Amino acid sequence: MTTILLAESVTVKFGGVTALEDVHMDVKQGEFLSLIGPNGAGKTTLLNTITGVVTPVNASLKLGNKDISNLPTHKRIRLGLALTHQIVRPFKSMTILENVAFAAGFKKVRKIIPSLITLNRSLEKKKAIEFLEMVDIAQYQDQEVSKLPLGVLKRLEVARALAVEPQILLLDEPLAGLNSQEAGKLADTVKSISKQGVTIVMIEHNLSEVLRVSDRLHVLDNGRNLAQGEPKAVMNQPEVRAAYLGI
Ligand SMILES: Nc1ncnc2c1ncn2[C@@H]1O[C@H](COP(=O)(O)OP(=O)(O)O)[C@@H](O)[C@H]1O
Ligand SMILES: [Mg+2]
Repeated sequence: MTTILLAESVTVKFGGVTALEDVHMDVKQGEFLSLIGPNGAGKTTLLNTITGVVTPVNASLKLGNKDISNLPTHKRIRLGLALTHQIVRPFKSMTILENVAFAAGFKKVRKIIPSLITLNRSLEKKKAIEFLEMVDIAQYQDQEVSKLPLGVLKRLEVARALAVEPQILLLDEPLAGLNSQEAGKLADTVKSISKQGVTIVMIEHNLSEVLRVSDRLHVLDNGRNLAQGEPKAVMNQPEVRAAYLGI
């Protein structure tokens, strides 16, 4: 399988804290990779380094054959990356549909301000409805975000990320805060997006869902690589059990 995303020698420091030290991660085209590890392991920092939100001390980042290490975030997004956040951050005064149309406009018109101006354009709205359908919340399209429950907002976050039509979707704890039934359904939705050809990298603590949907696991512990490989084999490694499960 071809490597679509390669992060090598990633070292990140926040003041005196070393969040990541010489971390490597490779992502294969079309796979569903879950990034796991204890709290504070550096998972969010790794994805934020990949999107350019965090500036590393050192990192070599490749998307396909292209070196993206020194590109600003908006250029990385245009090349095919999209990230959802653990804490949902929609525009609260907009409707669900407007939130996704806004994100779709970002892709098309290439600047944030012009994308606001084009908000009424029918093409973005039509596309936005398709993305809402992909995550099963099209029925909420005209509702204001501030009135909707977390389960819908988590799906909205995924729809907004899809709206930039990414090759790789990076998800930071999409299932956090959901009950087990909602978590299972959203994991199914992410799996269906994966089956449509979008490469997935998902940070997630819900291990039963992780094991159910992932092709491969990558484990971080204390800012370092701990293990990677086929899910069951990784979970059986003694160092993973010790660090991650405490057993
Ligand atoms: N913006 C920040 N400023 C200072 N320290 C941070 C910041 N973000 C993360 N850290 C620290 O970096 C380490 C890794 O954090 P994080 O990437 O959020 O871990 P994870 O997502 O695996 O829980 C932790 O020690 C955390 O406290
Ligand atoms: Mg995190």
